[in-house]
Amino acid sequence: MRFLSLFSVSAAAAALVAADTEFFFYGFGRAGVDSSADAEGGWILVPYILERGSLMANFSIGTPPQELSLVFDTGSSEIWMHSAAYCEAATECIGGGFNASESTTAVEIEDKLFSQSYADTTHVRGHYVIDTFELGGASLSNQTFALASTGNVSKGIVGIGFEAIETTKTKYHGILHHLVNQGYIASKLYSLYTNGEDETGNTVFGSILFGGIDRAKYDGDLVSLPIQPNAKGHYRDLQVNLESISVVDPNGKTTAFNGSINTPYVLDSGTTYMVLPTQIVENIYDYFDAEYNSTYDIHVVNNCLDYIADLQKQEFDNYTINFGFDGITLEMPLENFLSPITDDCATCKIHVHSSDNYAILGDAVLRGAYVVYDFENYVISLAPSKLDVEEEDIVAVRSGKNGIAEAVAS
Ligand SMILES: *[C@@H]1O[C@H](CO)[C@@H](O)[C@H](O)[C@H]1NC(C)=O
Ligand SMILES: *[C@@H]1O[C@H](CO)[C@@H](O)[C@H](O)[C@H]1NC(C)=O
Ligand SMILES: *[C@@H]1O[C@H](CO)[C@@H](O)[C@H](O)[C@H]1NC(C)=O
Ligand SMILES: *[C@@H]1O[C@H](CO)[C@@H](O)[C@H](O)[C@H]1NC(C)=O
Ligand SMILES: *[C@@H]1O[C@H](CO)[C@@H](O)[C@H](O)[C@H]1NC(C)=O
Ligand SMILES: *[C@@H]1O[C@H](CO)[C@@H](O)[C@H](O)[C@H]1NC(C)=O
Ligand SMILES: *[C@@H]1O[C@H](CO)[C@@H](O)[C@H](O)[C@H]1NC(C)=O
Repeated sequence: MRFLSLFSVSAAAAALVAADTEFFFYGFGRAGVDSSADAEGGWILVPYILERGSLMANFSIGTPPQELSLVFDTGSSEIWMHSAAYCEAATECIGGGFNASESTTAVEIEDKLFSQSYADTTHVRGHYVIDTFELGGASLSNQTFALASTGNVSKGIVGIGFEAIETTKTKYHGILHHLVNQGYIASKLYSLYTNGEDETGNTVFGSILFGGIDRAKYDGDLVSLPIQPNAKGHYRDLQVNLESISVVDPNGKTTAFNGSINTPYVLDSGTTYMVLPTQIVENIYDYFDAEYNSTYDIHVVNNCLDYIADLQKQEFDNYTINFGFDGITLEMPLENFLSPITDDCATCKIHVHSSDNYAILGDAVLRGAYVVYDFENYVISLAPSKLDVEEEDIVAVRSGKNGIAEAVAS
């Protein structure tokens, strides 16, 4: 299977890639208001399931509401879903389609055309619509989104990156803006948390918390990293500088992979594994003696047993792959990146992809972190996440420079 990367690429680049809170339950998510006297704003919690490499969450669109499951993507900014007509005809349409004719509040903008390409070569086209858009109990009016009528992306996507990377010339406001503007949250930020797996080991749960931080879900302190603008000084991708990538073996020996380090890496929920500069990928392949296997169209590790601590559980915990940022290192079990092909686990696929156009850390890395994307102060804050935690300690974040610091200290 191809790896999934919903990192937004422009048409040109595409060619190059092959406090105390009260909460109440709503249909699919929850909203909270901070009950401390001087609080402003609340938070909106939207649960998701990490399914086949995508963060799938439930949304209700239009009047009366049509329920759809769409993918949350921090690597793009267009919001789009398939049209009901597309889904009727398509062989694959996951999460459902939207029938604008059945919504009394839908305004179709037939002449505003939509076209989006993603890093995994998929693309989608259609036109724009304005309608109500519900998530986690928040009902947003006047949300612009696109309705796709052609393309080869199987699931609709809610891009939650910077509005600057919307593909249209005339930009529209995304859900984060509307959540602030329509009074649901005070600060233009969200926190991404990926929880552990369910009993079957197949489904991974998580949540996106708009306007708040859940202090029970991470260890230690959140470390703030400036979001890196592009060469022209524009904020386009949710990227921060990565200082090192290394592997630590069971004896504690660290091997650093050299290459384009200290450069921006996008923290993209829409990419399953990671996409690294070619030189680093070559170093990693060398370390693991990985070679290309045409049967699988991916590099494989033939001595995979060497990296497996527990054959029965197929765990690889003895080795970690470490991602070093200024002030924080995220340690990931190697099993996030190796998957056995054969029953005896002797051969594994190694999920590291190369590109010299962009560097992306996807879900396999983000799973180890609690990530706060702050669009107001252009900062991403990271802490190692706590997995399988049911406990909750959600605080709403105020607008302003000290919002996060005050929220976590309160
Ligand atoms: C979405 O809704 C379906 C059907 O109601 C439910 O089974 C599923 O758990 C929901 N998904 C999430 C992520 O809440
Ligand atoms: C969309 O809704 C209209 C009006 O109810 C209906 O005529 C049409 O068949 C629906 N289209 C699809 C694809 O379900
Ligand atoms: C999607 O379609 C485009 C153009 O039609 C094609 O180049 C690309 O390979 C397709 N990608 C996938 C994953 O099907
Ligand atoms: C939505 O748009 C309509 C028409 O432009 C406007 O009258 C209304 O005030 C808007 N609502 C919000 C919440 O912005
Ligand atoms: C990385 O660079 C260091 C020092 O320059 C060197 O010792 C090390 O062998 C290099 N690692 C790899 C995997 O090339
Ligand atoms: C690919 O891997 C399979 C075993 O999983 C092996 O039989 C085959 O020889 C390998 N092919 C190449 C080209 O290495
Ligand atoms: C892996 O770690 C476990 C406990 O942490 C240890 O018992 C085992 O010997 C280690 N395996 C290897 C191959 O180092």
